[in-house]
Amino acid sequence: MTDRYAVIGNPIAQSRSPLLHTAFARQFGHDLRYEAILAAPDAFRETVLSFIAAGGRGMNVTAPFKLEAAALADTLTERARAAGAVNTLKFDSEGILGDNTDGVGLVGDIQDRLGVRLAGRRVLVIGAGGATRGILLPLLRAQPSGVLVVNRTVARAQALAEALAAQGPILAGPLDAAGGREYDVVIHATSAGLNDGAAPAVDYRVAAGGLAYDLAYGEDTPFMRQARERGAARTVDGLGMLVGQAAESYRIWRGVLPDVRPVLEQLKLA
Ligand code: ATR
Repeated sequence: MTDRYAVIGNPIAQSRSPLLHTAFARQFGHDLRYEAILAAPDAFRETVLSFIAAGGRGMNVTAPFKLEAAALADTLTERARAAGAVNTLKFDSEGILGDNTDGVGLVGDIQDRLGVRLAGRRVLVIGAGGATRGILLPLLRAQPSGVLVVNRTVARAQALAEALAAQGPILAGPLDAAGGREYDVVIHATSAGLNDGAAPAVDYRVAAGGLAYDLAYGEDTPFMRQARERGAARTVDGLGMLVGQAAESYRIWRGVLPDVRPVLEQLKLA
């Protein structure tokens, strides 16, 4: 029987997950069907349960249901607990497993595709919302010399840093806490700058050979332009993370890790 998977969200028409997972399945010759499911805002749980009843094996979860997915899961992975959100559900005889693959997708993209080692590096993260929460634990596991999280609302950054203090060297501050210092990797994780708004005015320098990474998508985002003015020779958007998180979901479901590069190329052309 063809295995069934899906991405669930609202809205969902924009999701690239069906394209990604269909391409992964082709790499392995796996027989599976991956669909996009629109759930009404108050119907997440019943939509998931009916997908399971119909033989569904796994789901990706996108806005606005990532917190509800965490509540629905019987078991959460450590990184899903740290993220407080779930983007991957796996259904089997043991029940519903909730995981979060965003951070691994980002770290894999930075280290494996872009070839920038994070160990011993100075990392600046701009923003302290849901996107930041999803990536911090895997970032700390890569053993940077320090992670500074700056945010417009400093209390949110402080709460994240306190929750993860036992996991590695992490500090928090307001947007001006970056203090004009040099960072090897600067990650932009705010929603400012979407729809052509400006990126937050943060005073940092990108070290020689450093990387500026926007979690948003776009050929040349406001943050990427800002980072070049601050010395970044290399600026990238979040498409590689998108493919990376999908690949890690696929691995959780099917036990094999897809090759992200050809799929990323295909996505850039789409
Ligand atoms: P997401 O899930 O995309 O992270 P979120 O949880 O609403 O969404 O977080 C949005 C992030 O963008 C927050 O860090 C937010 O800063 P505040 O915590 O101070 O609200 C940040 N953000 C949004 N608009 C911003 C702006 N105009 N300037 C600076 N930061 C902004």
